[in-house]
Amino acid sequence: MKALAPKFICHGCGAVVDMALQLPFACPRAAAGDDIDHVLAPEDGAGFQPDPRSPADPFLRYRALLSPYRLARAAGLSEDAWAEFVGELGEALIEVDGHGFRITPMTKESSLAQAAGLAVDLWVKDETGNVAGSHKARHLMGVVLYLRVLAAGRLPAGQGLRERRLAIASCGNAALAAAVIARAAEWPIDVFIPPDAPASVVRRLKDLGATIAVCARRAGETGDPCVVAFRHAVQKGAIPFGVQGPDNGLAIEGGRTLAFEMADALRGEDITPAAVFVQVGGGALASAVSQGFAVAAANGIIAQRPRLVTVQTAGCAPLARAWRQSAGIELSALAHRRSQAMWPWEATPASIAHGIIDDETYDWWDAIKGMRETGGAPLVVGEETLARAWELARTHAKVGVSATGSAGFAGPLQAGPESGPVIVIFSGAER
Ligand SMILES: Cc1ncc(COP(=O)(O)O)c(C=O)c1O
Repeated sequence: MKALAPKFICHGCGAVVDMALQLPFACPRAAAGDDIDHVLAPEDGAGFQPDPRSPADPFLRYRALLSPYRLARAAGLSEDAWAEFVGELGEALIEVDGHGFRITPMTKESSLAQAAGLAVDLWVKDETGNVAGSHKARHLMGVVLYLRVLAAGRLPAGQGLRERRLAIASCGNAALAAAVIARAAEWPIDVFIPPDAPASVVRRLKDLGATIAVCARRAGETGDPCVVAFRHAVQKGAIPFGVQGPDNGLAIEGGRTLAFEMADALRGEDITPAAVFVQVGGGALASAVSQGFAVAAANGIIAQRPRLVTVQTAGCAPLARAWRQSAGIELSALAHRRSQAMWPWEATPASIAHGIIDDETYDWWDAIKGMRETGGAPLVVGEETLARAWELARTHAKVGVSATGSAGFAGPLQAGPESGPVIVIFSGAER
């Protein structure tokens, strides 16, 4: 190594992982039943800026803010080598999915705000045209770039990785994103899905060459059986290629590019947003957006972090429950009492926003941290509000978004007046 490799730190136990030597996926000290919330997050440096010479590709423009790039440079790989990894994967993504990563549109949607009766400047970040139709691919592009850097730099953490399969538990956007990226990287993948996974998703997964395992819920068991099967596969050697921080802390980092893009675009308009409303399932999106705005603020890309407001459906709201359970408890103490705040939702969840009914908010701690630090809060919305948000989004913003992907917009519909500009994320193309 020419320089020190980036480190990841577990917010639960403080374990430090050098990403050249060890995979920054699950915390190495995580132990069943220790009641610690183990999630690895990169140690962030300050002084990084978007690269004005790379206006279009987030993995080039924001590379200095990404640990795989910093690892590449520390390992003596050149700027050109990084551009080549991004470029080659981009080309392969075009072949597999029709397009690679490009900074996605963020527009002021006045007619949508007006139709919704909201007296605010409403900004919509549209991820429906992103790779595989949602923001999920951002999370996993960071992981696959890391695998490339490990191989090119012949780094110890990369030993034997090519013989291991990728694995993910999901039946929706995350599965599609994982399968598209795995195909572009020519890496075999196992996808664990429930029996009621949409036929269109199953078909596409098969077309992409993914191996599918169907996991049924068994009477008396709580927790998602797909997640259980996925974790079992990881124990047996699979590479965790899902979008949940406890299983893969690095996956959260790629999602930060979404916040970097939003902060960068608003800086261009000289706007400081008051709030960002984020739909929450497993919590990786909220966690990534929260971390990304924190990094953007620390680097002066945005003057102040927006209030983080998380949005869940009344059918399944473990994060809002954790927020109530954790009132008055210090964040560090909270990370040592996971079971006091987070456990699987008891009822079998149902909602039109079926992509956000994860039994657990796996990335709850960071979401709570972000809400506390920015003066935000969780919102729980009913099915009628979700339906109204979806209808308004499709009719007035003219975005072909799914009910899951417009669920964050139910937040401002329910919350009422705001003191300044508001951001929502539309993700997950309607299928
Ligand atoms: C379109 C869309 N938006 C938001 C989410 C929520 O993301 P997370 O599970 O990271 O909370 C999902 C999750 O599947 C999704 O598909």
